[in-house]
Amino acid sequence: MRLSMSLLPQLALALFLLLLTSAHVHGYGLEVGYYKRSCPAAEAIVRETVFGYFSQDPTVTAPLLRLHFHDCFVRGCDGSVLINSTKGNKAEKDAKPNHSLDGFFVIDAAKAALEKKCPGVVSCADVVALVARDAVSLATAVVRNGGWTKDGNLYEVETGRRDGRVSHAAEAVDNLPSPFFGIFQLKTSFASKGLDMKDLAVLSGAHAIGNSHCNSFARRLYNFTGKGDMDPSLDPAYAAKLKQQCKPGDLTTILEMVPGSSTTFDTTYYQLVAERRGLFHSDEALLRNKETRDYVYSHINSETSFFKDFGVSMVRMGRAGVLTGYQGEIRKNCALVN
Ligand code: HEM
Ligand SMILES: *[C@@H]1O[C@H](CO)[C@@H](O)[C@H](O)[C@H]1NC(C)=O
Ligand SMILES: *[C@@H]1O[C@H](CO)[C@@H](O)[C@H](O)[C@H]1NC(C)=O
Ligand SMILES: *[C@@H]1O[C@H](CO)[C@@H](O)[C@H](O)[C@H]1NC(C)=O
Repeated sequence: MRLSMSLLPQLALALFLLLLTSAHVHGYGLEVGYYKRSCPAAEAIVRETVFGYFSQDPTVTAPLLRLHFHDCFVRGCDGSVLINSTKGNKAEKDAKPNHSLDGFFVIDAAKAALEKKCPGVVSCADVVALVARDAVSLATAVVRNGGWTKDGNLYEVETGRRDGRVSHAAEAVDNLPSPFFGIFQLKTSFASKGLDMKDLAVLSGAHAIGNSHCNSFARRLYNFTGKGDMDPSLDPAYAAKLKQQCKPGDLTTILEMVPGSSTTFDTTYYQLVAERRGLFHSDEALLRNKETRDYVYSHINSETSFFKDFGVSMVRMGRAGVLTGYQGEIRKNCALVN
């Protein structure tokens, strides 16, 4: 009896360490429904906010989906993409690859509604992840017909992220893949965020929605190798059409990524890529690797399978470099460090 009493502190310490490490190994500190006790209405508040904007203008989906990607690939999904530049610091959102980042007003509206209900509880990084999920779900026929999760969404989002305090433009330039990347560069870029070739094939399917500026692909039309040539991997008939819409040096014109269906999330992206009509060199690159090529060809008409995979890969992307537990902070205003 006396012996075990004296061992008590060691036992307690061992138990404490065990709990610490097991939390680390299993959930990255994230879980579905993280706010179910601290702010039970959190996910419903976000969904209502997104629905309000979406029902007025379905083009909000694309920028909201892209924001989550740009957040996660730079310093992890820590809301750093939302931070404004200050006198001494140029933030991620003012980096060159920001190219038309948009949708911040939806994040701010959702965060404001959350702060009213549960002040200081829900992180901006989680708002970005939830908003992306809700927005892309609303753009699908599956969710219009009732959805797959109990709240009528396409997939469940893990939450519990904390917000970072740092945002540097230079890091966005270094970490975001370029539309001129080939398959090896894409592989390296995704691997550095814990994502594999399947994730690359699946997440690229996000380019079923939204727009692109001409200058994100014009080099493929006019000066691919610096000799005034065209990218031979682009369908020539499609290239001729793109040349009519995008003149050399055009920095302002935007084109739909998938002509005529840029607000519907579906498998049309894979159809286009298979026809060598993807806008970016990085889209075409999916045909240069067996696994990604097989994915493209096998998903042209497999929407259910694609949507299931998309949920899985989005959750995997949403774990990249997250801050959890006592790391970081819960920002009060998503554009400002507390
Ligand atoms: C594989 C590497 C990727 C590259 C190189 C890439 C590159 C680009 C570029 C250059 C644009 C057009 C920007 C402009 O000119 O305005 C764009 C748009 C977009 N990207 Fe990606 N992207 C990639 C992966 C992703 C991923 C993983 C997602 C989300 C899961 C995503 C979602 C989007 C969306 C939704 C748009 C349209 C945005 C809008 O209409 O406002 N992209 N991407
Ligand atoms: C952040 O910057 C945007 C764009 O410059 C501006 O509209 C917004 O008011 C800023 N937010 C804060 C909290 O300063
Ligand atoms: C993107 O960055 C440029 C500077 O590199 C800036 O002029 C522009 O306003 C930024 N765009 C957005 C949407 O923040
Ligand atoms: C094409 O690219 C080369 C090499 O980058 C450059 O020197 C040349 O000025 C470009 N031509 C045009 C028309 O932009």
